[in-house]
Amino acid sequence: MSRHPLVAANWKMNHLRADAVDCCRALKQALAERPAPARVAIFPSFPLIPVVAAELAGSELAVGGQDLHPDDKGAHTGDVSGAQLADAGCAWVLCGHSERRQDHGEDDALVARKVAAAVRHRLAPLICVGETRDERREGRTFGVLERQLRSAVTAVASAAGPFALAYEPVWAIGTGETATPETAQEVHAFLRLLLGELVEGAAAALPILYGGSATPENAAGLFAQPDVDGFLVGGASLDPQKFLAIIRHSG
Ligand code: 13P
Repeated sequence: MSRHPLVAANWKMNHLRADAVDCCRALKQALAERPAPARVAIFPSFPLIPVVAAELAGSELAVGGQDLHPDDKGAHTGDVSGAQLADAGCAWVLCGHSERRQDHGEDDALVARKVAAAVRHRLAPLICVGETRDERREGRTFGVLERQLRSAVTAVASAAGPFALAYEPVWAIGTGETATPETAQEVHAFLRLLLGELVEGAAAALPILYGGSATPENAAGLFAQPDVDGFLVGGASLDPQKFLAIIRHSG
């Protein structure tokens, strides 16, 4: 497989500066001693970005923002622009995480504008899609994923971007209930096929990550699937040893 695996830590609204420093140092040291084939990116909350960027400077580990505003600047209290993220040392940004969709009412159109803003500021968007438990129960999984993906990639002209996609079934996030390797593979293969129609060159090149209660225990089985190219890890990424174990299972 020619795709380069990617393992990303979404710290969400966790950690203070000292925790962030400890985590970064543990990861950096372990990966310097024994490099991993996977690329690694950390998505801290906004106030921690400068701390993480400083700790990871000169290493192979990248930093990303958890969200961005679709506009480049202006009167948007509490928001952060793509320009500010790039200026703070970010290479990546999450777009369309289900917690943004649920907690902040982000719809597909807004997510598409955020992806466009990321591209404008040369941030690689890590686009998140996923169905809720009800949507899966009602047999709407593939329709929902198709709608989310079609909209989100309208601003992405080519796979050269770079960008990445994360399948995060909402019912698996923070619940301890993980998609089985077969379920993940079925969805990832569907997303890859669709991407091939939507973005030239993306089907073969684009990493599709799995997210939703990923752990050291289930990572190997998921990564063994041909269309699972890494992980977007929430809870388990807060413990550097657990996160490292997932990285070690990804390549
Ligand atoms: P958990 O790994 O805590 O389920 O979170 C997944 C997630 O939302 C990553 O973005």
